[in-house]
Amino acid sequence: MSEEFHTTHSEEETVAVARALGAGLKAGDVVLLSGTLGAGKTAFVRGLAEGLGIDPDEVSSPTFTIVHEYRGGRLTLYHADLYRLERTATDDLGLEEMGVADGVLAIEWPDRLTHAMPGAATVEIEIVDETTRRIAVDS
Ligand SMILES: Nc1ncnc2c1ncn2[C@@H]1O[C@H](COP(=O)(O)OP(=O)(O)OP(=O)(O)O)[C@@H](O)[C@H]1O
Ligand SMILES: [Mg+2]
Repeated sequence: MSEEFHTTHSEEETVAVARALGAGLKAGDVVLLSGTLGAGKTAFVRGLAEGLGIDPDEVSSPTFTIVHEYRGGRLTLYHADLYRLERTATDDLGLEEMGVADGVLAIEWPDRLTHAMPGAATVEIEIVDETTRRIAVDS
């Protein structure tokens, strides 16, 4: 396990931090992203996609789809946004199985999970001001 702290001053800088993490991810890895609304979790997922060789424009803020799948890179990236879910509803998604199959699983709002995800990397993004974010990465 390693712990890193970053301070970024733009969305692009956050994407770059994520890209470096994404480049080192292996099949079965899970990344839990916490932080308040607009902190930059989806921006971070865009960087993970880039690091995996996936077109970052594929990454969208999930609307009614809870899990998105992005292909075309070194590994498939599964992107889940649990914001709108009740805690108990996450049991039915089969998130654990997705992570271990052919890809990597990134989860926004992991506090909605009912099961712990042992071994998952955690990313905590804190808003300092309009353009500044503090990011703690445990991987
Ligand atoms: N340093 C920064 N890093 C990341 N995003 C930043 C930064 N500075 C400003 N922003 C802006 O903050 C917003 C982050 O939006 P994003 O959708 O990634 O957040 P989120 O955490 O996924 O929100 P939600 O909880 O609604 O899903 C974007 O508008 C982005 O341009
Ligand atoms: Mg988001």
